[in-house]
Amino acid sequence: MKLKNPKQIESIRESGAILARTLEQLRQLVEPGITLLDIDAECRRILRGYHARPAFLGYMDYPAAICTSVNEAVIHGIPDKRKLRNGDVVGLDCGVDFEGFISDSAITVPVGTIRPEIQKLLQVTEEALELGIAAARPGGRIHDISRAVYRHVSRHNYGVVRPYSGHGVGFAVHEEPQVPNYVSSGPNPRLKPGLVIAVEPMVNLGGDDIDVCDDDWTVVTVDGSISAHFEHTIAIREDGVDVLTRLPEAMEVS
Ligand code: MF3
Ligand code: CO
Repeated sequence: MKLKNPKQIESIRESGAILARTLEQLRQLVEPGITLLDIDAECRRILRGYHARPAFLGYMDYPAAICTSVNEAVIHGIPDKRKLRNGDVVGLDCGVDFEGFISDSAITVPVGTIRPEIQKLLQVTEEALELGIAAARPGGRIHDISRAVYRHVSRHNYGVVRPYSGHGVGFAVHEEPQVPNYVSSGPNPRLKPGLVIAVEPMVNLGGDDIDVCDDDWTVVTVDGSISAHFEHTIAIREDGVDVLTRLPEAMEVS
């Protein structure tokens, strides 16, 4: 577990601010008819403008700047020529490398008008992320986050995806420790000041079973139910917790 000093956390915050702005601009682009490759191209263009690099591109040979996961795709969807349609939801998951400091964040975005049932799934998943973050405090433990996420999601009878977790981040896309979205029997390290982690609930409208597609990347629900994913990079400080991928106040996009 590589702890970060305050100066390094400030650098990850710069990376995270770029990422927040990028995701916000991409969110505003999402509408029926746009293709996943359009979104990927725009993501690359925006990051270039910030003199930042897409951290996922080339990571474990991942071929794109962003993960675009549509409907029953949970995570790691590879952008292709598919056109988004009214009623779809698309997960946008992106990592930014700014001067060697990595941030990781994801949102799930409605395309046009979505069913109320799916709206609720998105709302509860984002709430679970916020409750997980709120449960983190210096001196606490990873499972405080896991428990808060899992409680909120299971209260709504959704499926919590277990084989994929949040993770340490900052110097690399994936670092120790793991941050599960359920209370596992695995390691439960302390939340020490200087710890930087990505918290990322993945939640299915149906069962929790997932499968990986033939492209070796796209994770989908086995029952075909819709899935949602929200993610922030957070830092544990001496005196509390900072969200490093929150959109800075008063930001004007366009
Ligand atoms: N965002 C993913 C995660 O949270 C990482 C994407 S894997 C990549 O763990 F290969 F696409 F980078
Ligand atoms: Co992540």
